[in-house]
Amino acid sequence: MKERRPSFEIRTVEPGDLASLRALYHEVIDEDAGFRRAPGEYGDEGLESFAEATLGILDTPQNAYLVAVLVDHGSTSVIGFVRFRQNVSRSRTRHTGSLTIAVQREHRARGVGQALLDALLDRLQGGPIERVSLQVFEDNPPARRFYERNGFEVSGILPKEIRMEEGRYRHLILMHRWIG
Ligand SMILES: CC(C)(COP(=O)(O)OP(=O)(O)OC[C@H]1O[C@@H](n2cnc3c(N)ncnc32)[C@H](O)[C@@H]1OP(=O)(O)O)[C@@H](O)C(=O)NCCC(=O)NCCS
Repeated sequence: MKERRPSFEIRTVEPGDLASLRALYHEVIDEDAGFRRAPGEYGDEGLESFAEATLGILDTPQNAYLVAVLVDHGSTSVIGFVRFRQNVSRSRTRHTGSLTIAVQREHRARGVGQALLDALLDRLQGGPIERVSLQVFEDNPPARRFYERNGFEVSGILPKEIRMEEGRYRHLILMHRWIG
């Protein structure tokens, strides 16, 4: 019998999504063995400040925070997100920005990540953002494949950028893709 896949919708994050989004965030971080959350990181500081930080991203008009939400689920269940932040650190970098994306493990390889990324790129078309960047662990081939399939190219490497608690180092790969 064909497996019935729950359908999902993509939309901008809303206050009612935040508890579920935060839980997903923690789930994805904790999947990475040894990559423990330090206090204050990754929304660890409590729902109220997570909510403030998350919704605060939307204060900048070029930013986006999209969630994939299960339809017909009764309560809100966020199964994926993509976050995009314009680089406003300097006046001359505002044509660039960076994204972060994640999908709940049990809902991967069903096109949720693709739908989130497509929705984000559609949104950025025709606007001031010309380049989207991201960072991905070198030892994350599924994510690297996903980005490459979506037109992202390697821009460089940050060797030993992450030092794990046990002293092991991990490299971060920088990737980018042009809009339009
Ligand atoms: C990277 C990530 C966001 C991709 O999301 P996803 O929802 O799994 O992505 P998609 O389903 O669109 O595509 C992933 C794979 O599923 C396949 N796929 C897509 N739709 C499918 C479907 N309906 N049926 C079967 N396979 C499908 C794709 O071909 C792709 O195959 P690949 O492994 O050969 O590349 C997800 O793997 C993830 O959250 N990883 C953990 C967090 C992470 O690493 N984030 C990135 C940090 S930089």
